[in-house]
Amino acid sequence: MEEGIARAHINIALVKYWGKRDPSLNLPMNGSISVTLDHYSVTASVVVESCQQGDSLFVNGVPGSSQETQRASEFFSRLRATAGVSGGVTACTTANMPMAAGLASSSAAFAALTKAFALSLRLPWSLPELSRLARLGSGSASRSIHGGFVEWLRGNRDDGQDSYAVPLGTMDSWSSLAFVVVQVESGPKAVSSRDGMQRVVETSPLYQGWLASISEDLTRVRQAIHQRNLSQLGLVAESNALKMHATGLAAVPPLLYWTGATVSVIRRVQALREEGLKAYVTIDAGPHPVVLVESHQAATVADLLSQIPGVTGVVITRPGPGVEAVSSI
Ligand code: PMV
Repeated sequence: MEEGIARAHINIALVKYWGKRDPSLNLPMNGSISVTLDHYSVTASVVVESCQQGDSLFVNGVPGSSQETQRASEFFSRLRATAGVSGGVTACTTANMPMAAGLASSSAAFAALTKAFALSLRLPWSLPELSRLARLGSGSASRSIHGGFVEWLRGNRDDGQDSYAVPLGTMDSWSSLAFVVVQVESGPKAVSSRDGMQRVVETSPLYQGWLASISEDLTRVRQAIHQRNLSQLGLVAESNALKMHATGLAAVPPLLYWTGATVSVIRRVQALREEGLKAYVTIDAGPHPVVLVESHQAATVADLLSQIPGVTGVVITRPGPGVEAVSSI
């Protein structure tokens, strides 16, 4: 038996994945585009023991909760079935971010676990294959396989073979772009993105409007990335994020991920724009805004946002790498 160790970074969606057409295979209702960020990562180690029964998971050095372990074990069963192997998995993950707080830790965790599993068994899985498999753990993990700008293709097939992520631009392709991750005061999120999007699909009267608008958002974001056009990228990403959260507000019961500080950050970013600064905000299924800015203005923007009451931290990040093998956890 061999230990496989891999690291993956979180990604932030610019056009969000929101709603599944097949919850068991995490097949999305719509395509999405994200950028993988360089600061926050998860490192995973995996050992597969042929004579071991059952799987175990350690998260930041302590045994995972029963819920986390069960989710990981179901995921390992899928990887085992694809690889045609049996045996128990012992997996350890370490993360440099708060887990399940809306900072997309699962996108990095499942991407890292997929690659670590492949390394431990020396499986020659291609990037599309790694992406399809990571998708089974968490939809957004399909995108953290790649660095830089990434599109997750919706696909049309029922078996999900055509639903995986492809790179749109490497981490170095737009080096003047920065992302300020703003952490606001909050506990673990009340409703997971998995449950939240399901509720929206089933109950929100705005969901059809969301779906109808995605194709244009994807086209405009692809074009903005290609042309390195921050105002186009930022305006579409901001409007796409607000639209996603609007579908939640209209769900039954309503889904509101924001805190007061989230709203203050949105207002401040919009005011900065009025003053002529190129700053745009996006927010995943949680309360923490991420602000797109030019690199040379990132420190100024981060400093201004850090003074807003309820903001507990700001981190300046840039486009980061895809999943990679590493030598230690
Ligand atoms: O991958 P999940 O199941 O955690 O869902 C992620 C959903 C959003 O973060 C809200 C959007 C996205 O595209 O990442």
